[in-house]
Amino acid sequence: MADNSTTQDPIYVVDELIAQDIDAYLDQHQHKTMLRFITCGSVDDGKSTLIGRLLYDSKMIFEDQLAALEDDSKRVGTQGQEIDFALLVDGLAAEREQGITIDVAYRFFSTEKRKFIVADTPGHEQYTRNMVTGASTADLAVILIDARKGVLTQTRRHSYLAHLIGIRNIVLAVNKMDLVGYDQSTYEHIVADYRTFANEIGITDFVAMPISGFKGDNITTPSDNTPWYSGPTLVDHLETVEVDSTLDQAKPFRMPVQWVNRPNLDFRGFSGLIATGSVAPGVAVRVLPSGKTSTVSKIVTFDGELDNAVAGQSVTICLADEIDCSRGDVIAVADAPPEVSDQFEATIVWMSDEPLHVGRGYWLKLGEQMVSVTVQEPKFKVDVNTMARNAAQTLELNEIGVAEIATDKPIVFESYEQDQALGGFILIDKMSNSTVAAGMLHFSLRRAQNVHWQALDIGRRQHADLKNQKPAVLWFTGLSGSGKSTIANLVEKKLYRMNRHTFLLDGDNVRHGLNKDLGFTEADRIENIRRVGEVAKLMADAGLIVVTAFISPFRAEREMVRAMLPEGEFVEVFIDTPLDVAEARDVKGLYKKARAGELKNFTGIDSPYEAPADPEIRIDTTRMSPEEAAEFIVNKLLGDL
Ligand code: ADX
Repeated sequence: MADNSTTQDPIYVVDELIAQDIDAYLDQHQHKTMLRFITCGSVDDGKSTLIGRLLYDSKMIFEDQLAALEDDSKRVGTQGQEIDFALLVDGLAAEREQGITIDVAYRFFSTEKRKFIVADTPGHEQYTRNMVTGASTADLAVILIDARKGVLTQTRRHSYLAHLIGIRNIVLAVNKMDLVGYDQSTYEHIVADYRTFANEIGITDFVAMPISGFKGDNITTPSDNTPWYSGPTLVDHLETVEVDSTLDQAKPFRMPVQWVNRPNLDFRGFSGLIATGSVAPGVAVRVLPSGKTSTVSKIVTFDGELDNAVAGQSVTICLADEIDCSRGDVIAVADAPPEVSDQFEATIVWMSDEPLHVGRGYWLKLGEQMVSVTVQEPKFKVDVNTMARNAAQTLELNEIGVAEIATDKPIVFESYEQDQALGGFILIDKMSNSTVAAGMLHFSLRRAQNVHWQALDIGRRQHADLKNQKPAVLWFTGLSGSGKSTIANLVEKKLYRMNRHTFLLDGDNVRHGLNKDLGFTEADRIENIRRVGEVAKLMADAGLIVVTAFISPFRAEREMVRAMLPEGEFVEVFIDTPLDVAEARDVKGLYKKARAGELKNFTGIDSPYEAPADPEIRIDTTRMSPEEAAEFIVNKLLGDL
């Protein structure tokens, strides 16, 4: 057992140092390196126990979660330690259960040699998200395996993710060795199994060790129970493994701008964390995406000006010229800047219950940059058991796939393999604001670089001026049979009589031509609205007042079209007819068919309709005739068109 305290216990050595020379102690503590690591594995692999054991045995500098141990008297004697250890583990587990849906629990501890931050992530399959969050800043991953169970799906998934995320140091901790009688062949069998898998996914190196978190074997002291094992203990390894930050410093200089500092007219500085490389006054830099160049005039920090700054430092950079540079831009060395593009191939790890909607707009956050993005149908998804690449239409919870993505504005990026800060991103659902995926950019698709926007002399202003009107898109939405087409038709007639140049795009009609390849699945409806949105935008650019009549059942796509147009040009008109009223009318007989099961995915029956929360105009067709509704809409818009 590793519980027995001796006078060699690190804490006592440290205590002595504190007593003798507080300055020496503080100095030593400050200059300790920091290791960030993550523990991952399946449920019941013993993560909580292991973390409890690490905290307990290393006698870390106590944090609040260790309140249970605060009373020193309890730490005396084997009996007392057993109780406290169990208490501690229960406490950690309970705390994590509570925080489970929010995030990862970070625990801090320190030994004589190093400071540690461990990301404690729940092991259930649905919490891949937390694992990814914890892993994104980790230097090392401890993959826990239950010696009785061997390599499981979750072991593979987490190893694959750790590798994708770029963690170079992997520890295979074969845990619960006490429950297999410290059997060497069981251990070796598991390690061999894991090695086969690791090689397949490109993990070339890992350190394996037989441990028991519960009993303390090979955690801080070599265990007598595993005389056949001569490698390091877990803490030994964590204390000595090399964390290579010099690698980042050797790369070209890049700093994403977090904020612009302008306290007065004489000072303008750009603050951020240097992601890679080094910088000094006099260095020629380029601001991206604009591409404008200048020279670093000085580097400022709280402690004064610097002659030189490197990756990992937070600084404020001043430039010799007054060039545009704002939050989200990247300052880079002028002759080796990162790329700028708006189409990429990326690996995506889906982390939401709601599957990926191909073609839908999500927010993509890459460092300080935030843009709208759409994801294409995945090229393939990866089966984590066999590493096979399978066909996929979408990505569901926990699935990992490769797809092309397109952003609405160019972003500054680098391949994830090159630079994690400029290659790693998350996707955020625009409605719920929750993170739905993590991703890694591989490369920009050449066509994005070769297709440039052509600047034209006659633009939307000139088109609209010629027609003497203000363009707009009147976007009608509502259930099938709600009266969209009827009312839209009347509105167009009224506008026509008022000499307005209009065009009506109607769902049934567009589905006979441009969109005849589309059906009524969720994906097809999304694509239907995306295309109609683009066409409506072109027509508005041509100066027209566009009227559209599509069910357009999803809020996200309606908002996407709104975002495509200048402020105020998108007018959402909600034709609010309750389902029972539309069904009773059943002008085309489709509700009857849908109820009889002859028509699948019918809106309101077995396909959802998300009503607008805050439309510009709402029409209650149970209170207004179509003629009254059209009159109401035109009157409401008159001043604006
Ligand atoms: S949307 O959902 O993609 O916006 P859209 O407005 O283009 O739909 O087309 C709806 C019209 O298609 C309906 O008015 C109806 O006439 C016809 N239709 C045929 N099948 C369906 C279905 N499963 N759900 C809804 N409408 C359908």
